[in-house]
Amino acid sequence: MSAPLRIDVITIFPDYLAPLGLSLLGKAQREGLLEVQVHDLRDWTHDRHRTVDDSPYGGGAGMVMRPDPWGEALDAICGSRPGQTPHLIVPGPGGDPFTQEVATELATDAGWLVFACGRYEGIDERVYDEYRERYPLSVLSLGDYVLNGGEVAVLAMTEAIARLVPGVLGNEASLEEESHTGGLLEYPVYTKPPRWRDREVPPVLLSGHHGQIASWRHAQRIERTAARRPDLMQAYEGTSKD
Ligand code: ADE
Repeated sequence: MSAPLRIDVITIFPDYLAPLGLSLLGKAQREGLLEVQVHDLRDWTHDRHRTVDDSPYGGGAGMVMRPDPWGEALDAICGSRPGQTPHLIVPGPGGDPFTQEVATELATDAGWLVFACGRYEGIDERVYDEYRERYPLSVLSLGDYVLNGGEVAVLAMTEAIARLVPGVLGNEASLEEESHTGGLLEYPVYTKPPRWRDREVPPVLLSGHHGQIASWRHAQRIERTAARRPDLMQAYEGTSKD
């Protein structure tokens, strides 16, 4: 078996990451496919109040995370596996979009991810400058809205990445036709009963005709993507012209 995907998370709210121990990700950890370690940033402070933030130089609202605890935490964690290089990820609304493609790259290539969760108005910019020189570093955004910190984004990103690690899902075939695979949204799905509150399952799905079912599903993916995500549709049309 290949080495497990290793994920370290640095946060001032370690309890926020407790769900990483549940469900499929918990099982993946018990089975040795995934290793998750959550660290409290305040363990790298030295004052009585375990201070991690201060007011911004130049003025303005809110507080900024100080570089010194971050430097000590990142040195300790990123240096903890000799011979291995982590990919550092800082979730933030100003980052590159976190997409299925990015998730696939991180699940396939990285082997070791270190997530740094910012809070308040963000982390002192010198931390990015320092660690960008030493490690691959990505600032990644979940979407165009602002969360209170990186923790929820780490939950989402970790789930999206870890389920792509071979063995984690159990049924790898379910990856093949889900939303965003091949640039299209997923087709609608139905189960029993065949009639519910006067609503019928589309007859083609009961026909047993695999060819017709496959083309119906493909047409549904196209229709949905065009209706809901014209941006994805445009990209799909750009790549699928053969
Ligand atoms: N932290 C705050 N807002 C965020 C977002 N939209 N994506 C990722 N991390 C964030």
